[in-house]
Amino acid sequence: MKAITFQDKQKLKYEDIADPRILDDGDAIIKVHIAGVCGSDLHVYHARETGLDCGTAMGHEFVGEIVEIGKAVRHFKKGDVVLSPFTTNCGVCYYCSIGLTCRCEQNQLYGWVQEGEGLHGGQAEYVRVPMADATLMLLKEGVSAKAGLLLGDNLSTGYYCAEQAGVQPGGTYVVLGCGSVGLMAVLSLKMLGAERIYAVDAVPERLQKAEEFGAATLNFKTTDIVAQIKEVTQGRGVDAVLEIVGSPEAARLSMDLLRPGGTISTVGVHTSQHFSFSPVEAYDKNLTFKIGRCPARHYMNKLMEKARTYDAQISSVITHDFNLKDGVEAYRIFDQKEDGCIKAVLVP
Ligand SMILES: NC(=O)c1ccc[n+]([C@@H]2O[C@H](COP(=O)([O-])OP(=O)(O)OC[C@H]3O[C@@H](n4cnc5c(N)ncnc54)[C@H](O)[C@@H]3O)[C@@H](O)[C@H]2O)c1
Ligand SMILES: [Zn+2]
Ligand SMILES: [Zn+2]
Repeated sequence: MKAITFQDKQKLKYEDIADPRILDDGDAIIKVHIAGVCGSDLHVYHARETGLDCGTAMGHEFVGEIVEIGKAVRHFKKGDVVLSPFTTNCGVCYYCSIGLTCRCEQNQLYGWVQEGEGLHGGQAEYVRVPMADATLMLLKEGVSAKAGLLLGDNLSTGYYCAEQAGVQPGGTYVVLGCGSVGLMAVLSLKMLGAERIYAVDAVPERLQKAEEFGAATLNFKTTDIVAQIKEVTQGRGVDAVLEIVGSPEAARLSMDLLRPGGTISTVGVHTSQHFSFSPVEAYDKNLTFKIGRCPARHYMNKLMEKARTYDAQISSVITHDFNLKDGVEAYRIFDQKEDGCIKAVLVP
């Protein structure tokens, strides 16, 4: 089958790799209808995250149709159209039972094969899904494939980040990063009742979308963000910062924007070894700090109905559709934020 594969730093390839097959009775094989290109793929693309085998199919966001199931699969049949979270989960271990599905004892991240072990990704014609019964979810009627794709990752992650921020009546919130995940967080803050939302980025099309979703916008390249936020919060800082970038600069800015007693909620994937604020600063701010991977499978249950209600808004962040064969170019355009690209999907 054809897939977009990892070769080396900033080097991907559209090539033939082996078709996936059932390896375990709980597996399903999905024919991919659409696959997302995510900010998380860029960490691999730029070798901020390393270890991936050359020839690994990239990507962890997809919606597709089941074409084959293992003997033990009970909840799904051939022909079902399904979505998946970006990691697999068993549904019965301790972590699955407390809703932290992303830390399932048997979890695997799609698009991560290292020294021959792991799972190929969804930017391909087909993908193998282990523990299909617990991992997959039927795409509900009336929910578009695009909204379903975002529900499997960006929407769940944005909502999780917003929920972790602890929205209170009258609160003021800053979202750092208006990529697809940040934009989903703005929408989620609205769903959770937040009224005063500031969204920060430097890409005009992304800021414009954040404004459309109900945020006031600030460009960090042309504005003194800290001064602006202090001005609108009587010098205090905001109640919570949602950091959805994953850089040391954004982490630093989060601390500078926060009032004492506030919360930093971050889902940005951090790849550095040290925090960019000190224990002293954290102590002096009575900081609440929430960080980590989103338990997307858990949130998919919670949010399928929201995906239906807000389908048009959610899907509107997908600005670019590419044929799978043009996937390498899609990465370039998404990475460079060319042509107003907020999020790209690949269609096999
Ligand atoms: N925790 C999880 O489960 C999870 C899931 C999905 C994505 N992520 C992570 O979330 C982050 C965002 O993902 P995405 O797909 O939206 O990525 P993206 O690359 O499309 O968007 C990131 C945005 O941040 C902006 N930015 C850069 N530096 C900034 C700064 N200092 N202040 C404000 N904005 C800044 C960029 O201009 C860009 O628009 C990535 O780190 C990704 O890996 C985490
Ligand atoms: Zn993703
Ligand atoms: Zn589990």
